[in-house]
Amino acid sequence: MSAFDEQAAAAYESWYQTAEGARADAQEKAALRQLLDGFREAETVLEVGCGTAHVTRWLGDIGWTAVGLDLSAPMLREAQALNGVPLVWGDAFRLPFADDAFGVATLITTLEFLDRPRASLEEAARVARDGLLLGVLNRWSPLALQRRLSGLFRPTIYDDARFYSVGALKQLLRAVGDDGARMAWRTTLYPSWCEGLLPRSGAHLPWGGFIAIALHQTHGTGS
Ligand SMILES: C[S@@+](CC[C@H](N)C(=O)[O-])C[C@H]1O[C@@H](n2cnc3c(N)ncnc32)[C@H](O)[C@@H]1O
Repeated sequence: MSAFDEQAAAAYESWYQTAEGARADAQEKAALRQLLDGFREAETVLEVGCGTAHVTRWLGDIGWTAVGLDLSAPMLREAQALNGVPLVWGDAFRLPFADDAFGVATLITTLEFLDRPRASLEEAARVARDGLLLGVLNRWSPLALQRRLSGLFRPTIYDDARFYSVGALKQLLRAVGDDGARMAWRTTLYPSWCEGLLPRSGAHLPWGGFIAIALHQTHGTGS
């Protein structure tokens, strides 16, 4: 949590302006969009751990009624300065919302920073009628290795992050899903030499740098 201080908040959005950031952003959004299309009836989305609200604003731009929540005041101040979506200060483990207040709850590169992943997903599932959408950095990917190595030479926000595999995420989601809940997933952000070989929105392969995975609850309206 302390990784997201004033300094990290000030630098966060500018990463998306770099070539690496713009490529990651485009591919991650393409993969997320594929899975968002599976939530046919849901119109509202809560982004837990929204940071500077980069993704929350995009969700608003593509037609969702989106709300961002974060525990870091510096990140929320940056988000506020960029305008666009309602923002709430709060903790992923105690969301200040009623049961089923949203259609979908999403955590995008946030689960990696939460010390009780299952508890945070149970809490997200409580407020989301139709299900969850996660975007998570893949521990079994060339990108994860690169991020780990760069952390050896200079401090990065990923030094204390926990990366996940597709299998580990499925196991976590199975524990929070209701009976009959189903999952959909894909990965993207492969090394650039693979780019022409795979769709931009990713593929059903377990080695991409970014895992997008959705949990569709059966008691929701969009299943
Ligand atoms: C890597 S950032 C991701 C921001 C945004 N989702 C994005 O993709 O651009 C992780 C965010 O999780 C937030 N966070 C960490 N622990 C949290 C908690 N317990 N409750 C809410 N937010 C938390 C951090 O403050 C940070 O803004």
